[in-house]
Amino acid sequence: MIRSIRARVTLLFMLALLVSVVIFGGGIWVGRKDSAYYRELQRYVQSQAELAIRIIVQAELRGPVTVTRDPLVGAKLVPELASAMEVIPDYLMVLDTSGRAVYVSEKARALPESDLSTLLERSANIEPGPTATLLTLRSDQIFLSARIETDPATPIERIVAGSSTSTTEELWRDLLRSMLMLAPVVLLIGGTAAYVIGGVAVRPITTIISELEAITDGRSLHRRLGGADAQGDELARLTSTLNAMIGRLENSFGGLRRFTADASHELKTPLTVLRASIERAMMARRGSNEQMEFLEQALNEVTRMADLVNSLLSLARADEGRFDLVRDVVLLDTVLRDIAETATILGEPNGILVHVTECEPLNIEGDAPRLRQLLLNLVENAIKYTTVGGTVELCLVAEQGAAVLTVKDTGMGIAAADLPFIFERFWRADRARSRAGGRTGTGLGLAISQYIAQAHGGTLTAQSRLGRGSTFTMTLPGAVRRESVDPGPSPPRMT
Ligand SMILES: Nc1ncnc2c1ncn2[C@@H]1O[C@H](COP(=O)(O)OP(=O)(O)OP(=O)(O)O)[C@@H](O)[C@H]1O
Ligand SMILES: [Mg+2]
Repeated sequence: MIRSIRARVTLLFMLALLVSVVIFGGGIWVGRKDSAYYRELQRYVQSQAELAIRIIVQAELRGPVTVTRDPLVGAKLVPELASAMEVIPDYLMVLDTSGRAVYVSEKARALPESDLSTLLERSANIEPGPTATLLTLRSDQIFLSARIETDPATPIERIVAGSSTSTTEELWRDLLRSMLMLAPVVLLIGGTAAYVIGGVAVRPITTIISELEAITDGRSLHRRLGGADAQGDELARLTSTLNAMIGRLENSFGGLRRFTADASHELKTPLTVLRASIERAMMARRGSNEQMEFLEQALNEVTRMADLVNSLLSLARADEGRFDLVRDVVLLDTVLRDIAETATILGEPNGILVHVTECEPLNIEGDAPRLRQLLLNLVENAIKYTTVGGTVELCLVAEQGAAVLTVKDTGMGIAAADLPFIFERFWRADRARSRAGGRTGTGLGLAISQYIAQAHGGTLTAQSRLGRGSTFTMTLPGAVRRESVDPGPSPPRMT
């Protein structure tokens, strides 16, 4: 198996060249019988026959042509006429009325005996006229043309002239021989040209390969291919496609690096706190309130870490495409009222009011626990980032066959510059990032929520203005309105 494209191209080109030469030569050889050379030969044979008959007619003008009877050889043309016939050097046969040869030219006589008798036999039967017939003998191939002498006074009846095709065949053979001799030279020149052209064509690919080989690990992903930037040809397209792919790889590598760094950082902080709390609990008096406080703190950190690990696991599954939803009919309004109830309890310490402004009885096909988790993330955020005395409004309506769920708060809002990043993993606004104010969090809630919405074929978007509050809108397709409203659990408590 030849590994180099250049060598393959060269070999294929040479093969194509060889096939062309063979087809060309074969075509010439097969078609030679229709060629002008052969037509010329036929005309020549006819003219020879014509000439012979003229000689005889001339002789007849001078007196009746006689045939001598030789006891040994049989009938024979008179010597004067026979010598006149010698001017025709090729094959010439003169036959009398009984079909016997009375003159046979020297060239015909030189034929082997069997060939001569075949020639004479054929001469007696060949159709007379302005045509030529091909006769293949063992030693030669001859075009024959016959003429009939019609004068009843003469014993001569038929004249047959012939000419060998051997000279013409030799001509073709010479041509083919020259072609065969030239073929290796043509192949060599063609092969060399193909090798050079192949090299020129393959060079940019070689450049791309060495440039790609230089990208050995994640740190060299900033490099881009530039060697083969031709004018919009296939290689330029390949280069730009590869560059785009390297760009995407660089992004996901960067994301992965950030993710690992953030995840370990997020785990490090609770671990430090956990260690300090356990150490203090160990040093505190056994069974004292102080010890219980430290242990409680440790437990909180363990819960935080467990939440974080759960979130990371969900995201890892989502990345792997294993974010499997257990689909069933979900009564969205019931879920919303449940969450509103939880939100009311969560908001109570800060005096945050939770309202359900509208709640249409809508069903969708989906994963109830996941949708509950999504909504809880949104209301947790709304309450976490809303200051004392604010309000949170929940709303569920149907719009063009989709369920539209909004969580609106009057909280601190998000700066326009920050808005594009809020769904990114571990992203937290600077103020929120500081643990001051009790706003703990990992920055994974919205990333997971968006995954859940997308896994349901829906969207999750945010609108916000700094200091004016935020509105998160989730749209889920395939909403079906229930006609008989399910009584569901008791309506949420309004505070
Ligand atoms: N309702 C909101 N009002 C203002 N800022 C918000 C709101 N919701 C989210 N944010 C901003 O978006 C960031 C990302 O939110 P996300 O829910 O992903 O993380 P988190 O709440 O900080 O942590 P957790 O993973 O515990 O949810 C938050 O840190 C906050 O800065
Ligand atoms: Mg959150």
